[in-house]
Amino acid sequence: MGATIVGCGKALPKLKVSNDDLSQIVDTSDEWIVKRTGIHERRIAVEESSTDLAVTAAAAALGLQGVEGVECVSWRFEGASAAPVDPASIDLVVCMTISSDSVIPSQAGMVKMRLGLENAVAFDLNAACTGCVYGLSVAESMMRASAADSGAHNALRRVLVVAAERLSRLTDWTDRATCVLFGDGAGAVLLDWNEECPGIRSSFMKNTDDPEGFLALGNVLAAGEFPFGENAYELPEGMNGFVQMRGREVFKFATSAMREAIEAVLERAGMRADEVDCFVPHQANERIISHVARKMGLPLELFQISIGGCGNTSASSALMALCDAYASGKIAAGDKVVLAGFGGGLTSGAVLFEA
Ligand code: ACO
Repeated sequence: MGATIVGCGKALPKLKVSNDDLSQIVDTSDEWIVKRTGIHERRIAVEESSTDLAVTAAAAALGLQGVEGVECVSWRFEGASAAPVDPASIDLVVCMTISSDSVIPSQAGMVKMRLGLENAVAFDLNAACTGCVYGLSVAESMMRASAADSGAHNALRRVLVVAAERLSRLTDWTDRATCVLFGDGAGAVLLDWNEECPGIRSSFMKNTDDPEGFLALGNVLAAGEFPFGENAYELPEGMNGFVQMRGREVFKFATSAMREAIEAVLERAGMRADEVDCFVPHQANERIISHVARKMGLPLELFQISIGGCGNTSASSALMALCDAYASGKIAAGDKVVLAGFGGGLTSGAVLFEA
């Protein structure tokens, strides 16, 4: 028995921005971006809010109607024609984001309200790009605890795990070292507690201190008139309101952290890497993914690579890639799948599950 993925969705904003488009804004080129990252274009949310993206991805995972005009991909266990999931049957919504439209209400609360998930508890979780791993792991633990407690007040049998990011609003569009990397989008999975299927078999989460600020994003609090002092609010030293990154240091962290996380979930599940049918890594850079595959002696074909058309969408990235893998048939029923990530914090982790 376990928390089993029975639906996936991903949502993309309309505007496509190519590398050539970016070369009109900063000193860069299509050749540099493709060679160093594997990114060809990204989507930027102009008309769509982060909540629109989250709602559409979640709706796709449930077989419901999303926001009109927002592009989506959907995969559902019983096929696309299966009846939509009853919104009242969702017990919990966990949403991962660093770029939600509002802090209160939470992004998860907005998804709950807009999709009419009347019985769901909803909260947000921030683990930067590793959010999808943390979200799945936290949801699975809560479902397992609830299944073990027959008298639980909040039985958690059906849980939506959603990630939505609008990183374009946290991007310094004058900084060529970061602005070429990011994009906007959302991903979602529906977890069902299944007595027959093992579902999520093991997970691993880790936080590594980042005292030098390899990845940083200050929280810009608009203090306005503040009666208690001159410098009412200052950002921590070296931070501003945009994602800042020391690319080479993050690259080194990413390759070792992803490998460590993958090996940890394999060990916990008592499996070897060559028994895994599909790896779904955080999509930050194609070179990071191929480096991990090479170091682990695994064929790159086992890794889902979706970064080319959407860039790095932070917490959403691996969930969007997971949806692609299911929708394209790269993941089939019974497959062993590892989803792995790394990100600001510094966070890292992985989840191993049976499809
Ligand atoms: N176009 C052209 N040239 C560029 C660009 C650009 N967009 N950006 C940097 N350069 C230049 C640099 O100025 C440098 O020039 P110099 O040699 O004259 O000084 C040169 O290219 C090489 O720069 P590096 O930073 O060393 O390039 P690198 O090969 O490391 O690639 C990259 C940079 C793609 C950012 C890589 O380091 C990387 O992918 N790092 C990890 C990124 C990542 O995973 N981020 C996760 C963020 S997740 C989150 O939590 C938001």
